[in-house]
Amino acid sequence: MPRIAYVNGRYVAHRDAQVHVEDRGYQFADGVYEVCEVARGQIMDMTGHLDRLGRSLGELSIAWPLHRAALEAIIGEVVRRNRVRNGLVYLQVTRGVAPRDHVFPAAGTRPALVVTAKRTDPAAAARRAEAGLAVITVPENRWERVDIKTVGLLPNVLARQKAKLAGAQEAWFVDPDGTVKEGAATNAWIVTKGGVLVTRPAEFGILRGITRTTLFSVARSLGLEIEERGFTVEEAKAAREAFITAATTVVMPIVSIDGQPVANGHPGSVALSLRAAFFDVAEKRPA
Ligand code: PDD
Repeated sequence: MPRIAYVNGRYVAHRDAQVHVEDRGYQFADGVYEVCEVARGQIMDMTGHLDRLGRSLGELSIAWPLHRAALEAIIGEVVRRNRVRNGLVYLQVTRGVAPRDHVFPAAGTRPALVVTAKRTDPAAAARRAEAGLAVITVPENRWERVDIKTVGLLPNVLARQKAKLAGAQEAWFVDPDGTVKEGAATNAWIVTKGGVLVTRPAEFGILRGITRTTLFSVARSLGLEIEERGFTVEEAKAAREAFITAATTVVMPIVSIDGQPVANGHPGSVALSLRAAFFDVAEKRPA
């Protein structure tokens, strides 16, 4: 079955889906994006993702490309047309197409919208969770506004590639004082020896992950305590567990950091139970 993409008002074959050479996303990374998980035919946490999209657009003074309800309908339609039961929806909004100039284009330039969807294999993800992932650490080198989900992801791309070359699956950005910020495309967590979940506050310096926010409710449903504070790489290495969260991974246990095992080097039971309980707690919208 051919994949379908939505590009600026039209549903087109994915292989022919194109944007203009002067799209400001292409030339300046002048755009924002969201990724939502689709699980068992349901779009997860769409409200949270679209709220954050609105915030990202507002911070950059980019208008909504169309009414929110219309965007929700398009997201559902792209999922349906691609017959995605388990997978991911990607949506990207840029400031639009205009002659190259750093200043904003003329008022009335329409933001450009692309929506795509792809299938993922839940069995493969379950196997990854059973094995656990390895992370490396890299110095924080991103701009200060990483709270905005922009498509300007070059440091994240380079960090992920470095992780891959090191045989790891994620890279954690670390501040000069040794505290962990977040992953290249995930939020970072540890579980202390006392069983408390720890994650960095999201007021600044990291993306406020939608999965991270939902995990607060998941933790509550399991009677687990959460502390929002910074933690160092050393604390993470000595922790009972470490894990990451994102729409693409849900909850994934971390079993090694810079080649050193976390605890006994096996996925932790807290991370795995959070992963198992996630679907029940997250907001679900039929596609
Ligand atoms: N990334 N931090 C960063 C830097 C991210 O890029 C992401 C998500 C997250 C987790 O956010 P959420 O729980 O809302 O997915 C944290 C997406 C999935 C991506 O770039 O593919």
